Amino acid sequence: MNKTTLLHEGKAKKVFLTDDADLVIQEFKDDATAFNNKKKGSIADKGVVNNAISCRLFSMLEEHGVETHLVEKLTERDMLCRRLDIIKVEVVVRNIAAGSLVRRYGFPEGTVLAKPIVEFYLKDDDLDDPLMIAEHAVALGVATMDELAVLKSRAEAINDVLKKFFADRKLKLVDFKLEFGRHKGEILLGDEISPDTCRFWDLDTDEKMDKDRFRFDMGGVEDAYTEVQRRVLELD
Ligand code: TMP
Repeated sequence: MNKTTLLHEGKAKKVFLTDDADLVIQEFKDDATAFNNKKKGSIADKGVVNNAISCRLFSMLEEHGVETHLVEKLTERDMLCRRLDIIKVEVVVRNIAAGSLVRRYGFPEGTVLAKPIVEFYLKDDDLDDPLMIAEHAVALGVATMDELAVLKSRAEAINDVLKKFFADRKLKLVDFKLEFGRHKGEILLGDEISPDTCRFWDLDTDEKMDKDRFRFDMGGVEDAYTEVQRRVLELD
């Protein structure tokens, strides 16, 4: 399968059309941004690591009955995917308070939530991806109420699978972001799942092993990503 035209270039990935109208190739870059592009940098070999982690997690989710856009891992940086009409809703699932939950609502960082929280954000960089309620998404025409109900229950099911998968690998799944898209009448999980889009804390030490190390200049970014990759890929 060959890349033809560049369809879209995002902050961490490029998406290319292929000879097959139903398939695209997602190429993972080393570029890193945070706070909606206000902080820019690069993480050595991040594209290779995030592609490997995402492909493994998507195929593991498929084994648990979650439909995703993954077709196959093509090369170090390239993932062959079903082409999606992306739903402009970022779905965040939270198990432990961190990040904007701490900033907005004053939870002490690390508070274990009695029940996971699912949030919807509008996928719109110009507006800084604002938090929204389902009614906003429907009024904006980005999704129907039925689709949002599917996104919420799908996100909860994915959380159950991922939480166990990571606990077995001595990582706490603090929170994460998912994107979904429409493909031939179905809703599939799209985008990526990686240390860019999740918060992982070491089960024993609570050490942060994700993009927060880049966001807050904590050092050891590459080592943290590589260690997550090792735990995801080697402990099968
Ligand atoms: P937050 O605490 O900053 O709202 O982030 C929640 C989770 O979502 C965290 O795991 C990081 C992820 N995330 C993204 O993947 N992309 C984004 O643009 C944002 C804001 C968060």
